[in-house]
Amino acid sequence: MPAFSFESQAGQLIKVGLALSSTRVLGDLLEMVLLEARKLTGADAGSVYLVDGSVLRFETSQNGTLSERLGEDACRALFKTYELPLNAESIAGYVAVSKEMVNIADVYDIDPSAPYRFNPASDRANDYSTHSMLSLPMMDQKDEVVGVLQLINATRETPEGKRVVPFDSMCLPVVGALASQAAVAIVNAKLTMALQKSWLDSVLRLGLAAEYRDKETANHITRVSEYALLLGRNLGMDKNGLELLHWGAAMHDTGKLGIPDSILHKPGLLTPEERATMEYHTLIGALILKGDSNPILMASQSVALTHHERWDGNGYPRGLSGEAIPLFGRITALVDVFDALSSRRVYKPAFSMEKVVQILGEERGRHFDPTLVDILLDNLDEADAIRTTHADTEADFEKFRNYSLLKIEDVL
Ligand SMILES: [Fe+2]
Ligand SMILES: [Fe+2]
Repeated sequence: MPAFSFESQAGQLIKVGLALSSTRVLGDLLEMVLLEARKLTGADAGSVYLVDGSVLRFETSQNGTLSERLGEDACRALFKTYELPLNAESIAGYVAVSKEMVNIADVYDIDPSAPYRFNPASDRANDYSTHSMLSLPMMDQKDEVVGVLQLINATRETPEGKRVVPFDSMCLPVVGALASQAAVAIVNAKLTMALQKSWLDSVLRLGLAAEYRDKETANHITRVSEYALLLGRNLGMDKNGLELLHWGAAMHDTGKLGIPDSILHKPGLLTPEERATMEYHTLIGALILKGDSNPILMASQSVALTHHERWDGNGYPRGLSGEAIPLFGRITALVDVFDALSSRRVYKPAFSMEKVVQILGEERGRHFDPTLVDILLDNLDEADAIRTTHADTEADFEKFRNYSLLKIEDVL
């Protein structure tokens, strides 16, 4: 590591600032802040804590030595999230409450008059030696502490190899500026996430409203989404694809909002005309979810339109077959029926798993994509765990049988 130079780091800081302000995913943002802070200071390791109400939550950690020794993934797995009280007893806590930067040459030799102590538990557990530590408050525009950036073991190359040294006071203004930029970016990312969450919540309620009309419980939506994720994970989908699948599957029957009660709630068989009307729920759903460039709504629209297509081409509304049916639609078609068969409904008991497996086997390559059936059958234990975790209770059904049982306490 060359000697620290403010000029050489200032340009880098501007670039980092731009990157930070354009990152809206909090996890990615924190990783970037930590990595850049380590580069600026030559730190071997570091952690980020965020203030959450009355606690300081450990969010992420990076450690060059342990990553080299164990590999990136194993190193990441060492650090589980935990909370610290927001008080001066820990170093990070002290920095958060005092709003002061703390630069310690050796955490095993802290001045006894200092209010904080170093907790060596993590060092012992991971066979690591922390010595120098630089902890900075990350403060937003209102001068409130958003979190703490903690950098560990500044290293310098020497003729004898790498050596841990105290953090150079020359680097403090630059890393302080990075911490301030990070704080603003964190506040923005949190706002974006809160907005996204409330938007998704509204979208999901549309799906729930449709299922409620059809006397399906909220658990049906949860189970269908979870089964879909189980298949998606086994297909090797990435995080983004899984998120779209999760939301898309949840919205499959949105179009039932437009089907008349006389058909939706008719006991017994539907006439051919009534069946044709019922089938319109795919088109109605696609219409409700149409016209947005948002990827989640686009995925939801695709699922609403295609979840009653069949692998053999005998489904509706378009009679698509095989891989011409979008993957999310094929997945949802299978897991929606799997859920209908394997869980209890207002009008029928749950089928035994043997019976469900038999039906899926018969419909493999007819109603359903054979590859997806195989994946589901290979992971039946996990699917069954989802079924029992999100099973409907008697009270869930009773609300549909008798609305007068719905109490004001249930809705407040
Ligand atoms: Fe449907
Ligand atoms: Fe459904």
